[in-house]
Amino acid sequence: MNLQLTGMHAIVTGGSFGIGAVIVRTLAAEGCRVSFCARRQSQIDKTLSAVADLPGTVQAKAIDVTDSAVFAKWLGTLGPFDIFVPNVSALSTDWKESIRTDIQATVDATEAAIPVLLESSRAAITYIGSKAGSLAAPKSASYGAGKAAVAHYMKSLAVRLLPTIRVNTVSPGDTLFAGGLWDKVRLNDPEHFKEVVQRNPLKRLATPDEIARVVAFVSSPAASFVAGANWYVDGGSTNHVQF
Ligand SMILES: NC(=O)c1ccc[n+]([C@@H]2O[C@H](COP(=O)([O-])OP(=O)(O)OC[C@H]3O[C@@H](n4cnc5c(N)ncnc54)[C@H](OP(=O)(O)O)[C@@H]3O)[C@@H](O)[C@H]2O)c1
Repeated sequence: MNLQLTGMHAIVTGGSFGIGAVIVRTLAAEGCRVSFCARRQSQIDKTLSAVADLPGTVQAKAIDVTDSAVFAKWLGTLGPFDIFVPNVSALSTDWKESIRTDIQATVDATEAAIPVLLESSRAAITYIGSKAGSLAAPKSASYGAGKAAVAHYMKSLAVRLLPTIRVNTVSPGDTLFAGGLWDKVRLNDPEHFKEVVQRNPLKRLATPDEIARVVAFVSSPAASFVAGANWYVDGGSTNHVQF
């Protein structure tokens, strides 16, 4: 299948590491031009060198998305773009952090992207949510609530912005990669990690590629009738009907 991403331009927040970095690589491998931001220049440089030979060119800037004015100014320097992937989370159990980063910064960044996306004939917003947005999360209530709030906002945006912009959420399940959240649990709390593996019906965690492939498809013109959806990429680990 041709995703028809060649020649399109995507913006990814938090694209230097983890799931975001693999989204950047996957889009660029499909011929999409990608611009991403993250805070640490050293990690940005590593990611840029890893994607240097792909068909789509990749550029990046060291920006903290919680500085909404600086983020909006950067967007204004990028020219036309077609795809916006808000991927940053504070991955925090602190309410203030979750509200500031996961909710407010994501809404501000998305609202700043909308006027540019409205000029594209193939525009898509693909928010990176989490299965935690629809599960009770007594140990990380602020994180789950933040994900639920923004998934709700994305559904409202889909209604507001169709037929011009397709808005969707992709909700990953537990995702394992070197240096990531679950890798730290694997190293520091192997018993808990075993429980996490067991709660996944596939008896393993997702790879970032398994998330990024769905993000690339949902964001692409190949998914032209996918709108207002929340795609769970969780290996069947949520035991409820997903409305
Ligand atoms: N990992 C999982 O198991 C999992 C499961 C479900 C959903 N998710 C969701 O997937 C998304 C990515 O998670 P991840 O695990 O890949 O995260 P991660 O490994 O912590 O990577 C986060 C990326 O965002 C950047 N970043 C963090 N805060 C930022 C800020 N304020 N401004 C700009 N960039 C920032 C980081 O670079 P700097 O630190 O240099 O800024 C990095 O590039 C999140 O929305 C998360 O909720 C993850």
